[in-house]
Amino acid sequence: IPVEDFDLVIFGATGDLSHRKIFPGLFRRFVAGQIPETSRIIGAARTRQDDKAFRNEIAGAIVEFTGVKKTDPNLTKFLELLGYTAIDAKGTDGWNELKSRMRKGAIHAFYFSVAPSLFGDLAERLHSHKIADEGSRIVVEKPFGRDLESARALNAMLAQHFSEQQIYRIDHYLGKETVQNLMVVRFANILFEPLWNAQFIDHVQITVAETVGVSGRGAYYDKSGAMRDMVQNHMMQLLCLIAMEPPYHFDPDAVRDEKLKVIRALEPVEPDDIVRGQYQADEDSSGYLEDAEDPESRTESYVAMKVKISNWRWQGTPFYLRTGKKLRARTSEIAITFKEPPHSIFDMSSGPKANELVIRLQPNDGMNLKVMIKEPGPGGMRLVQVPLDMTFAEALGPEGGDMPDAYERLIMDVIRGDQTLFMRGDEVEAAWAWTDPIIEAWDDSKARPEPYDAGSSGPEESLRLLHRDNRRWREIR
Ligand code: BG6
Repeated sequence: IPVEDFDLVIFGATGDLSHRKIFPGLFRRFVAGQIPETSRIIGAARTRQDDKAFRNEIAGAIVEFTGVKKTDPNLTKFLELLGYTAIDAKGTDGWNELKSRMRKGAIHAFYFSVAPSLFGDLAERLHSHKIADEGSRIVVEKPFGRDLESARALNAMLAQHFSEQQIYRIDHYLGKETVQNLMVVRFANILFEPLWNAQFIDHVQITVAETVGVSGRGAYYDKSGAMRDMVQNHMMQLLCLIAMEPPYHFDPDAVRDEKLKVIRALEPVEPDDIVRGQYQADEDSSGYLEDAEDPESRTESYVAMKVKISNWRWQGTPFYLRTGKKLRARTSEIAITFKEPPHSIFDMSSGPKANELVIRLQPNDGMNLKVMIKEPGPGGMRLVQVPLDMTFAEALGPEGGDMPDAYERLIMDVIRGDQTLFMRGDEVEAAWAWTDPIIEAWDDSKARPEPYDAGSSGPEESLRLLHRDNRRWREIR
């Protein structure tokens, strides 16, 4: 379904995110017929260049990141939507020109793909030059602050010129198809929800493992670390979608209210319930300390923790979270281990094992439910656990299996005015309020993160988190 006619301004249009994700995503939506040909996409950045040079730059990025041919007629048509205005975020240059490019009657959206230190300047100038009005939307990228205090300051700064209904805080994990699917699996099937609580679920494991290191972006990452880069936002969102109560409706505030309740119910994490790690160099690849260009750095590239949610539904069911760079495989999944049946009528040696539901976010997005069946043959009642496994792409066939990139979905939601998959200001603040004490305790201690080998499953210490509870991490593969 096409969205309404819009003017979208992308601040930071010459940057990496814009090249890799935003423009390729917009192009794919254009090809899908979702973007009206009258719409305008205006790049804005400090570099001085004209529309033609900018279109060339973006054409190069789209060719590189989508694989489309340079001569593709769709690309030629898409480029016609593009314009460029050189802008000084902290000064006056370019703002009048930008204003003259905006059309009356079209939806106006402004994407801040820039450092958070510029958010305030952009918001203020959009307002003072009367470029934005009450109907305009602004989109802001992570990191949204680096602690509670800075997140509050950012929220307050944006609130001077924009209402909460106008602010779209991106967490690209919420744009991933399978992440949205978590809500559908839970709330559109009768099968799972009655069992979705501490009475029937033994524990939950959430893993986001990456094979890449931080080389090339060490300067940013070293000030951030896995806790700020992944846990406070992406992992927290996954946790919320798994743990939240059913919202009364699929409506932005109804969903976000329920997520917020989960974050507020998180218990503070005990130092003993958290392990942080840093990858080391081996013959083939550099270690974290080289990538971060600080031989003394104590920033974590891996974190594993046991999280408890203090409410009726989850009393006694731990959630184990882990994420890290340079691990054995790139895999993101949520594994829900149910309890064993209370009584077995079968021979104990081959008796039932706990059911497990694994939701794979990437790669091979899909679900795997492990169930017990009888092993075929005359040898008596022997039980065996087998997978009910499906990948969404296969199950839905070539038409339905097209998985749009997270950014495609999210940018279209901005134009539609749907905030469901964006973080509300209070959610972000609550997440920082929970992570701040953990990070502060690390800063205060002089302890170094546990070393781990590149290509491994993380530091040995992280095994202990589950072993002492008589549980095991799932293999990363
Ligand atoms: C980003 C982090 O937000 O998410 C990166 O800054 C991380 O460090 C990335 O690599 C992971 O996203 P995805 O979509 O590749 O799982």
